Amino acid sequence: MGLNRKDLLGVKDLTVDEIRLILETAGPMKDIIGRQIKKVPTLRGKTVINLFYEPSTRTRTSFELAGKYMSADTINISTSTSSVVKGETLKDTAKTLEVMGADVVVIRHAAAGAPHILSKHLSAAVINAGDGFHEHPTQALLDMFTIKEKKGSISGLKVAIVGDILHSRVARSNIWGLTKMGAEVRVVGPSTLIPPEVEKLGVTTFTSLEEGLRDTDVIMVLRIQLERQQKGLFPTIREYARHYGVTAERVRLARPDALVMHPGPINRGVEIAPEVADGIQAVINEQVTNGVAVRMALLYLLAGGGNPHEAIS
Ligand code: CP
Repeated sequence: MGLNRKDLLGVKDLTVDEIRLILETAGPMKDIIGRQIKKVPTLRGKTVINLFYEPSTRTRTSFELAGKYMSADTINISTSTSSVVKGETLKDTAKTLEVMGADVVVIRHAAAGAPHILSKHLSAAVINAGDGFHEHPTQALLDMFTIKEKKGSISGLKVAIVGDILHSRVARSNIWGLTKMGAEVRVVGPSTLIPPEVEKLGVTTFTSLEEGLRDTDVIMVLRIQLERQQKGLFPTIREYARHYGVTAERVRLARPDALVMHPGPINRGVEIAPEVADGIQAVINEQVTNGVAVRMALLYLLAGGGNPHEAIS
């Protein structure tokens, strides 16, 4: 059984059953990553194009590896060396890639809604790899996979999402996903970095980091997005770190077996102390590995279909 949809544009419009299917499919995919020879023929003859209008290390590389591990042809288009610099529109660029044979277009764009526009114009599957402040669905799915892998279930867990909620597409997708899967979600940060009316999404807000972390099962630390920062949202980086930096002492307020997560890239010593990022409760590297497995699952479900257990043989 595949996903009964052409595209993956956001977590907001995924059903609980669809999220479960993606997470369950990622399990067997992770087995492939652990093999000595990481290659199955599942997507032979399929073409995956990564079209990234913003920088990326983890997402772009993991989609490339995910496609390669399943024998798809994967191509990366960097906008700085493409005809985008000559003024070609997003739609014309994507249509050009499709008529060359793309089966899946993975897009990251600074404009919220860019993947949704493409999805209307392409018959190829479109996967949102991050659109503006809106959504980063594959990050939330890999985060949920990691939580489920470590904790057995998501339902009933207390999850604190800490930091720059306002500018974070990761936070938005995780709020949609984690609340659907039954977690109790808290958003924690200075009031200037918490979107107004976020509580309508079913979360509780905390402006005190200490109160927000107390008794949580998962601490999800967000990057302070210096490149998106408007002036005046907090006094200085040093001041932010003093009040909202996740230190070892603050982690002790959470449950003793709490997971510490971060989507990366991390600003060491700003939103997370180095000893926490490298500590035994951190699952940041596992998140990266799981990102490959979840993206394999998505490519398979959108471009392949069939039984995932047959897909990995
Ligand atoms: N987490 C994340 O999206 O990382 P990249 O920007 O490196 O892809």
